[in-house]
Amino acid sequence: MHKDLEKILLTREEIAARVRELGAQITADYEGRSILLVCILKGAVTFFSDLAREIKVPAEFDFMVCSSYGDATDSSGFVKIRKDLDSDAANKDVLIVEDIIDTGTTLSRLKPILEDRGAKSVKIATILNKPSRRKANVTVDYNGFEIPDAFVVGYGLDYAGRYRNIPYIGILKESVYKARIL
Ligand code: PRP
Ligand code: MN
Ligand code: MG
Repeated sequence: MHKDLEKILLTREEIAARVRELGAQITADYEGRSILLVCILKGAVTFFSDLAREIKVPAEFDFMVCSSYGDATDSSGFVKIRKDLDSDAANKDVLIVEDIIDTGTTLSRLKPILEDRGAKSVKIATILNKPSRRKANVTVDYNGFEIPDAFVVGYGLDYAGRYRNIPYIGILKESVYKARIL
């Protein structure tokens, strides 16, 4: 285990098995159609590349970068698109791929934006979900794991830009983020 972790929450094998199940479910649901897979950079990149290879219907790839700003007076926050899709979402079946849904701010804002562009459908897949932290309502169509409110890293998820390349998901030691705040 990585020295900065307190424990492993999900092993490589557990993640891979769940990703295969989600891929099979998505393949069945989209049978006879093609899909526009949208990766929300950077955190989703690992899940995106694993999930895409488990989806057996024709798929295009596209990428977005968003940053969300929480606002104490408005729990739904504000989301800025820092890099937009290259493709036109109109008339496409869009599947947004995320690593984690935390407060729900990012996706509660992003989903209607893609719907307003005329997408035929917009659905959401996430490997991790923290429902206990939700501030904005989000319908999760493909949910990997519901996890407790702990500071998780690995499999694409970072703390201050680090730990994304850890191949499993672990809980960060409190001493790591306490020390770094100073
Ligand atoms: C994280 C995560 C989700 C979002 C979830 O991204 O990858 O995109 O926050 O939070 P929310 O549900 O409260 O909106 P982050 O902004 O850390 O960027 P990153 O993916 O580049 O790490
Ligand atoms: Mn992200
Ligand atoms: Mg992050």
